[in-house]
Amino acid sequence: MTQPSHDIIRGAQVAMSRLADRNTPFIFNEWYVAAFSDEVGRFLLKRTLLGKRVILYRTEAGNPVVMDDRCVHRSYPLSAGQLDGDTVVCGYHGLRYDASGDCIEAPAVAKCPKNIGVRTYPLAERGPVIWIWMGDPALADESKVPALPWMMDSEWAGAKGYYDLKSSYVYLHENLLDTSHLSYMHANTIGSPDYVKAPTTSEMGEGRFALVRTVSPTKLPPVWGKPTGLDGVPTASRIVRNEFLTPALYEVTTRLYDSALAEGERPEFLIKVAHMATPATHNTTHYFIYLGRDFAQTDEAATQFMATNFFKAFDEDVVGLSLLEEVIAEQGDDLYEISIASDALGVAMRRYLKGRADQEAKDKENAPPSTGAGFPQVVMMQQS
Ligand code: FES
Ligand SMILES: [Fe+2]
Repeated sequence: MTQPSHDIIRGAQVAMSRLADRNTPFIFNEWYVAAFSDEVGRFLLKRTLLGKRVILYRTEAGNPVVMDDRCVHRSYPLSAGQLDGDTVVCGYHGLRYDASGDCIEAPAVAKCPKNIGVRTYPLAERGPVIWIWMGDPALADESKVPALPWMMDSEWAGAKGYYDLKSSYVYLHENLLDTSHLSYMHANTIGSPDYVKAPTTSEMGEGRFALVRTVSPTKLPPVWGKPTGLDGVPTASRIVRNEFLTPALYEVTTRLYDSALAEGERPEFLIKVAHMATPATHNTTHYFIYLGRDFAQTDEAATQFMATNFFKAFDEDVVGLSLLEEVIAEQGDDLYEISIASDALGVAMRRYLKGRADQEAKDKENAPPSTGAGFPQVVMMQQS
């Protein structure tokens, strides 16, 4: 048995040091999914996003609000307090915050001190999801909220799901980009033996990484074959585009048809999946999934069948990535991984993530120091 030599191991470790991994700082200047729209309502939803505890709720008018889950007085979690109208009341000494995070009442004193409050973050609700910007507020630009028109299109049928993934979001992105795993990790769900050998083309641009795989002719697994009526057809085509769109968003588009029929005369079926990854901590990820299709839109049985079977496959990824994360954590500094040619896109994507994270860290270092103006160092809460 040939073990990698010391030189190969050292070389692998040097190469890995240029890639994002579970230890890479988060990229804050990006829109991430904070929650599905229907998760947020007239109660305090507590969640950790990019390492920060926040609470989410809706005002009486229905607008979503997010703020830090920490009272500025003595750090009591606001999630343990109460939502009162549009305001949040701390459960320790009763400081009250409005929807913009301003403290508007401190019951123990006659006048609420000015200029104290908790941080809120820009939100943008788009169809089934609510996006959050946790980076530099000056750079928040709603026109840059990822647009997935099909998720808001009434002509498309949809189903959604969520995982509390016990793995870094970096490994989730890499899993999505390296689809050669479908023939193995998903051998009994969405994969087929010919998938791993099927021809691919890669696209790489600044922050864009896509892999197109053409599996044709093929026999589709039932999850694809049954709802499309292509089950058992030996000449089916499965064209899959896997695309990293942002550090928070990954889109998979699958086109299915019978290649024995001429283009224009054959029915074609489109299935799209949005994989939305929001780091919670360095080794846990909020994994939101939205699954859409452009056919049999009103067929509830098809929705159920596809959701059940697709999520069986996503379960496999979630279990697989948590296993991988455990092993990586145990390896510590001894860890080395050897990339092969089919990893080119994943490696480029991880380099990009590391580059973004390093650039943000540099920008923060170079930012002018705060003068502290407007933020008194000590706020005395005078008795009335
Ligand atoms: S800790 Fe919130 S009011 Fe004191
Ligand atoms: Fe997978």
